[in-house]
Amino acid sequence: MFAIIREHHAHMTKHTNTIYLCSHCDAQYTKWVGRCLECGKWGSIDEARTPRKSQEEKTSTLGTQTTTLKNISSREITRTKSGIAELDRVLGGGMVPGSFILLGGEPGIGKSTLALQVAMAIQHTLYISGEESVGQIHMRATRLDQQNPELQLVSETHVDTIIATIQKESPTLAIVDSIQTMYSDDIDGGPGAVNQVRACAAKLLECAKSANTSILLIGHVTKDGSVAGPRTLEHLVDTVLYLEGDRYQNLRMLRTMKNRFGSTDEIGMFAMQESGLCEVVNPSELLLAERGESMPGSVVTCLMEGTRPLLVEVQALVNKTSFGFPVRKASGFDLNRLHVLIAVLEKRAGVPLGQYDVHVNIVGGIKANEPAVDLAVCLAVASAFKDKILGNDLAVFGEVGLGGEIRSVRFLERRVKECAAMGMKRVITKTIANTAAATPNSLKLTSVKNIAELITHT
Ligand code: TYD
Ligand code: MG
Repeated sequence: MFAIIREHHAHMTKHTNTIYLCSHCDAQYTKWVGRCLECGKWGSIDEARTPRKSQEEKTSTLGTQTTTLKNISSREITRTKSGIAELDRVLGGGMVPGSFILLGGEPGIGKSTLALQVAMAIQHTLYISGEESVGQIHMRATRLDQQNPELQLVSETHVDTIIATIQKESPTLAIVDSIQTMYSDDIDGGPGAVNQVRACAAKLLECAKSANTSILLIGHVTKDGSVAGPRTLEHLVDTVLYLEGDRYQNLRMLRTMKNRFGSTDEIGMFAMQESGLCEVVNPSELLLAERGESMPGSVVTCLMEGTRPLLVEVQALVNKTSFGFPVRKASGFDLNRLHVLIAVLEKRAGVPLGQYDVHVNIVGGIKANEPAVDLAVCLAVASAFKDKILGNDLAVFGEVGLGGEIRSVRFLERRVKECAAMGMKRVITKTIANTAAATPNSLKLTSVKNIAELITHT
């Protein structure tokens, strides 16, 4: 048996100089197949000779010179500020010259708009669009508040031409919209194929470093995280920013996923308006603005977005099931987590939801992935079930365990402060020592240990 495997292995290594590559997604095969097993494309597999050297051809190397930390002279980097405070903060205080930044997001979320605003704000920027003609960019530009008639534009998709242009003009910032439209003659496959995306990004990276020009690269991400998406580029770039939000709501969040020149905790808040993206200084206010009369099933919670507290409304609707099997739906909240919380409510707090449909919604298109939202979801569901109004001045947060126990959340003080600042009068959570001391006077802080206690308390 082992002999056969060994023989097979020897046979394989003899032939590794020829591999078969998918021109669409770069998957590798040892033999030809009609359809790529990775991306499912037909007829995209071609033979490729690897430039792998044989053992005899390999040159020996003697290693390289190393250095110590103290021998490296530190130089001050002057960051380029865009003047858009929310963006500069997310970047760690501005753009580092020669940095390569990826701006990802779903189509239509506002990436081009944000990029154009940055282009208007930073002197000597070159805006390269492979998606729109200069006429279309002009139309978009006229809608914006900031104006800069000197902004240089070009509509181009050939990456080598773009690089030559950047080298010729040497702008402070070059914006490339978007990586999915770029192509290089050296690579097989059309624009948007994974190998094109990767190769074009690698070329642009080299250009950013050699020309000392910051490059802001735009990339579309689809909901399913498509193969050709910018996720394949994350390791390559210095900074990864994602613009998120609900297309049908106007709040947008700019998040850092990776930053070689700053923290990844910061998030920027914007509102999509008629005149482009406007900075939102007080997002809690915006999110709670449309809250009317207090209703059963509605409660406010405080989430942390990076290091910023954010008050959002959690809504629940509980109805008698009409077709036997109860329906559970969640928007902005994990459905599996909702199933767990319903089970906890039934078992630990005696709320009989077995014959009831439960719908949960986080208002404002916010995605509440933090465990701190658990308590608010439980309370909203219980309140909807009992048809009981909780009041507009109550905020709750805490993680709920399977035993119905409530755990305290991180940044407790900061959350409590934000609740007070937004006019909340009561906060229910699990406190830790010393929180009471830091609580503003206008606020009544109640600590609860488990879910049953919470239900009787409200
Ligand atoms: P866009 O920046 O084109 O999205 P992306 O580049 O991420 O695909 O913006 C998309 C939407 O933004 C579009 O539907 C129109 C809207 N919009 C505004 O609401 N106000 C504006 O000032 C602009 C320029 C766009
Ligand atoms: Mg666009």
